[in-house]
Amino acid sequence: MSVCARPGRRAHAASALLGLLVLATGCATSGRNASGPGGGNMGVGGGTGTAETYPVPAHPPPDEDGSQLWLRYPKVPIPGRLAEYRSALTHVVRAGSSATLQAAQAELVKGISGLLGATIPAADQPTGDGALVVGTPSSSSIVKALSLAGLGSVGSEGYLVQAATTGGRSAIVVAANTDVGVLRGSFALLRHLQCHRSVQGLAIAASPKIQRRILDHWDNLDGTIERGYAGRSLWDWSSLPATISQRYIDYARASASIGINGVVLNNVNANPQILSSAYLDKVAALATAFRPYGIAVYLAAQFGAPLHIGGLTTADPLNASVKQWWVSEANTIYQKVPDFGGFLVKANSEGQSGPGDYGRSHADGANMLAAALAPHGGIVMWRAFVYSDNGTDRIGQAYSEFKPLDGQFASNVMVQVKNGPLDFQPREPFHQLFGAMPSTPLALEVQITKEYLGEDTHLVYLAPMWQEVLQSDTYAKGQGSLVARVVDGSLHGYRMTAMAGVSGIGSDANWVGSHFNQANWYAFGRLAWDPDLSAQDIADEWIRQTFSNDPVVVTPVKQMMMSSRQNVVNYMEPIGLVHMMGTDHHYGPAPWVNSLTTANWNPFYYHKADATGIGFDRTATGSNTVSQYSGAVRDKLASRSTVPDDMLLFFQRVGWDDRLPSSGRSIWEELVYRYSAGVDAVATMRNTWPMVQGRIDGKRYGDVASFLQIQHYEARWWRDACLQYFASVSKHSIPSGYAPPAQSLQYYQNLQSTCPSDPTKPRCPAIYTGSPSPAILPP
Ligand code: GCU
Repeated sequence: MSVCARPGRRAHAASALLGLLVLATGCATSGRNASGPGGGNMGVGGGTGTAETYPVPAHPPPDEDGSQLWLRYPKVPIPGRLAEYRSALTHVVRAGSSATLQAAQAELVKGISGLLGATIPAADQPTGDGALVVGTPSSSSIVKALSLAGLGSVGSEGYLVQAATTGGRSAIVVAANTDVGVLRGSFALLRHLQCHRSVQGLAIAASPKIQRRILDHWDNLDGTIERGYAGRSLWDWSSLPATISQRYIDYARASASIGINGVVLNNVNANPQILSSAYLDKVAALATAFRPYGIAVYLAAQFGAPLHIGGLTTADPLNASVKQWWVSEANTIYQKVPDFGGFLVKANSEGQSGPGDYGRSHADGANMLAAALAPHGGIVMWRAFVYSDNGTDRIGQAYSEFKPLDGQFASNVMVQVKNGPLDFQPREPFHQLFGAMPSTPLALEVQITKEYLGEDTHLVYLAPMWQEVLQSDTYAKGQGSLVARVVDGSLHGYRMTAMAGVSGIGSDANWVGSHFNQANWYAFGRLAWDPDLSAQDIADEWIRQTFSNDPVVVTPVKQMMMSSRQNVVNYMEPIGLVHMMGTDHHYGPAPWVNSLTTANWNPFYYHKADATGIGFDRTATGSNTVSQYSGAVRDKLASRSTVPDDMLLFFQRVGWDDRLPSSGRSIWEELVYRYSAGVDAVATMRNTWPMVQGRIDGKRYGDVASFLQIQHYEARWWRDACLQYFASVSKHSIPSGYAPPAQSLQYYQNLQSTCPSDPTKPRCPAIYTGSPSPAILPP
């Protein structure tokens, strides 16, 4: 049966638009549970969905504050699937006694009981059809007896989730080689059920493609979070180590459910006190709380720590006392935290100390720390985010500094590289170091917290951006040398692999500042597990778990999410503009800033707009930084006829009246068009959201609606301020067919003294007036 989406009682004016969406997406598919990705990367199984119609809730679902994240287990509302689950899952066979197996069992009982609408009993042995058996061959005699083919190939963190027969009775088995693998498989089964997929013929096999999947917290010891917009740090240092809050456990549950296996607790701009004995006791308490969930603790280490807390007069990495200090520091850490992951280091970057202070190289510094950690199995993640104000193109500096060091790092060092060569902008090319360091394992660092993409309020789903980077071809070893293959180690045969996400997770009830920001935490974990998953499939499964499986919800919300990244590029920094935000707080537009003493902190440095044109020439006629990319990539980016529109001004300088081949518009017209389209796309999101009203709870519905309103006004602010500025520089005016900017250039420039009203929850009340759309006027 095809399920033609019905707008429901409260879809109001949105119903017309819904009709369009249903037509656009195809009713037959949108009305079904599309299969999406299964538990992971090696198989889906379990059927493809249901033809059942989702009932319109008689009453709006109870309010939620978002604290459950995607770990929500409401009763399955479609009777056929509910009946299937109730007969396939009648009891849980008790798992072993380890803390990890206990955690897995607790989550399964909680989740399945919720989904079935009745508590699922536990038993010591299968008592009939429908047993859920979980364990490893050593913790479960049933798993051992099943001798499951494929278990040998899922490794230490992978799992099998499959239909089986034991003692002549039907069962579902979650099997792995380790207890942590069982936990990951348990979450995969829950995800499958939360997405209302069939369990008939269930056969999921998965294992991570990237070894270390780490959340980097930029949390300070005073409870603030650098670039955090979701309240204060999760870590209550003053009550640790004595008090372990449920919040820590829920953080670990959520992170474990998406495969995260490491956390850097503190800011890369590190306070050395974290390495003191008193703090290490607190760190140890957190490590103990996270251990059952397969999450190891790492610390950001300040390179100058021997000076600040060690009583030494130098931090020179070749100095014997310094080396010894780090050795004994590492010994102390491992006494308290035997499975400590290692150090993350920001050195000689933005004022942080480093080996360069002593005339030593990054390799000298990293290797010294690596030597201290090596006996314990720890690693160093040495960041490549380095630049200085030395007159050379900032975009090329990390490559120039690190590429010559390839092969010089110790075997337990990784170099951690941001996705792009600048700094987490809405769109950047992939970092030139990917593919350029075959002998040094590179970790990919992305930013989950949206420092440059609307902070807490704007709805921007980041998986399409990360997918774009991961699927970029470096051509390092010819066609197909994707960034994903660099990061998963297969291109160069890296011995270690890692992906890190700067978390922004804080004390807000919804953890990350907004309900939709949760999708970015979720997507980070899923992509770190399998960098080849699609952003669209991840969005699909996240919506189903977080809001509803009802296609009337899934289809429009997925459309909003999938278009959101290009929208933000358009209304903030179209066709290759970058770094045009306000100074320090990075909130709101300020393309006119050109007075900061550090030249490459000025937006002007990046766009160089004047009466003759706009853009940073990084081709052979300019900085030639494009030559740091390998052949095919370099040629594509360096040529006007092949550079992608959204990279144009990043690599090339153009005249205002030059024509963009793809659209036929002049550069000026294209900017006006893109900025305007970006604003109006937020209007479309605002008009789409009411389709879900009454299908999800009122609290989250209202929260999202009010943030979309803020986003809409702020998109218009970006557009009007940037267009006013570029109009004044280029001496062009807004073409007919577009709304004129609401205020003068001076008005927007003066906002810098009042906006944001609060940098931790940035807002700009002065621009929340009038009608942001239409920016493109109706004909
Ligand atoms: C950005 C960010 C800083 C951060 C830095 C880093 O520049 O604004 O707050 O410290 O990145 O990644 O180290």
